[in-house]
Amino acid sequence: MSAFIVLGAQWGDEGKGKMTDYLAESADVVVRFQGGNNAGHTVEVGDKQYKLHLIPSGILYDTKLNVIGNGVVVDPKALFEEIDYLKGVGVDVTPEKLMISDRAQLIMPYHKVLDGIKEKARGKKDIGTTGKGIGPCYTDKMERSGIRVCDLMHKEVFEEKLKDNVDAKNDIITKIYGGDSLDFSAIYNEYLEYAERMRPFVKDISVEVFNNIKAGKKVLFEGAQGTLLDIDYGTYPYVTSSNTIAGGVCTGAGVGPTAITSAVGIAKAYTTRVGKGPFPTELFDETGDWIREKGHEYGVTTGRARRCGWLDLVILKTTARISGLTSFAVTKIDTLAGMEKVKVCTGYKFDGKVIDYVPASLEDLAKCEPIYEEFDGWDKSIEDARSYNDLPENAKIYLKKIEEFTGTKISIVSVGPRRDQTIEVTEI
Ligand code: GDP
Ligand code: IMO
Ligand code: MG
Repeated sequence: MSAFIVLGAQWGDEGKGKMTDYLAESADVVVRFQGGNNAGHTVEVGDKQYKLHLIPSGILYDTKLNVIGNGVVVDPKALFEEIDYLKGVGVDVTPEKLMISDRAQLIMPYHKVLDGIKEKARGKKDIGTTGKGIGPCYTDKMERSGIRVCDLMHKEVFEEKLKDNVDAKNDIITKIYGGDSLDFSAIYNEYLEYAERMRPFVKDISVEVFNNIKAGKKVLFEGAQGTLLDIDYGTYPYVTSSNTIAGGVCTGAGVGPTAITSAVGIAKAYTTRVGKGPFPTELFDETGDWIREKGHEYGVTTGRARRCGWLDLVILKTTARISGLTSFAVTKIDTLAGMEKVKVCTGYKFDGKVIDYVPASLEDLAKCEPIYEEFDGWDKSIEDARSYNDLPENAKIYLKKIEEFTGTKISIVSVGPRRDQTIEVTEI
């Protein structure tokens, strides 16, 4: 019996899509438990590249069950666009392969409008959201006015809830922000079409996931975003609106903590961030530009250039603690090949002390000065390495430092975007 988590250890885009697809080979079920189509997960198989946002990265296999959990916010328009895109590239998404939780919250057109106008109203203090309506949808969930998938399955319930919401949101949009009101009928008719298309996929997914675990099937929980974007433990308010950490699995898929057997933190060999907010090891010089170009660090969802910086071990140690990681999978170590020297941050100088955790207050975090340890780089290109011993000695020293500092082993090293560019070091 096993149920394991794959989650982002930094600010997202660590290679979760690649690692989920790779690890899904030995799994039976892949479950998304939080976030929505703000995620952009890239999977490369052979010479084909797939970009997934809402659908779990196990979908490229014919035989796996993929589950969208109750903790996910579902934009039906984006969902069907993704299903159609997958069909266009030869991947069929059928109700045998995909289940959607009846408890998941729906992203509605007014959530997307509110995401945009609220960001604009924040001016210089904008978060740099993906504009997909994620924050406003989770706001409604917590405020208890959200519309769930199960509501959409009942025409009258949906009609009433939509009426209440459109009235309330139009007041906010027009009276507070001076925007244009939305038309109830247009949304209603559009969503009724989605309802019929969605119906065969809708299930009580907690029951399905539980039964699969009980039957001895291997279940993989695929995280979106990363630890430092977590609503509680991230760099608030420059975060997303869900729990991206391991605890999110329990609430976002209806699974008890004792069912989870392991948690793998996906860590990029350096650090990136897209959107606003603090980033202690950010590089503003040509080294940062070099990493961005070599690592193709541009967003999958928004196309924005990602901010790049040195590997921050304080962040990885924090992730290991908060999510109880059993191992790390380190990705993009190949990108660093060719650098004469590489640095890692091993602590923050703060108020005359050295700390190895991320402080809650952004004002305190701004005062933190990263302490770096420098290592010799490796110039041999390593995308063809297929065993740990194929890696250059200096790359191994770099990896050892990660294990030593975080107290967490490295189970996988990824040396390229494709499935075959993966080195298994130990059990996950
Ligand atoms: P995710 O959001 O965590 O799934 O990551 P993204 O897909 O947004 O970004 C990771 C990018 O790095 C994608 O373009 C992947 O194809 C690519 N990638 C993943 N692992 C590796 C690796 O080990 N080496 C290289 N060079 N690219 C990788
Ligand atoms: P994956 O799963 C990187 C960031 C946005 C913004 C903040 C809030 O591909 O790693 P939101 O639209 O969620 O309200 O935006 O979170 N963000 C991500 N950054 N990778 C992601 O997903 C992200 N999803 C959201 O850039 O700073
Ligand atoms: Mg991504």
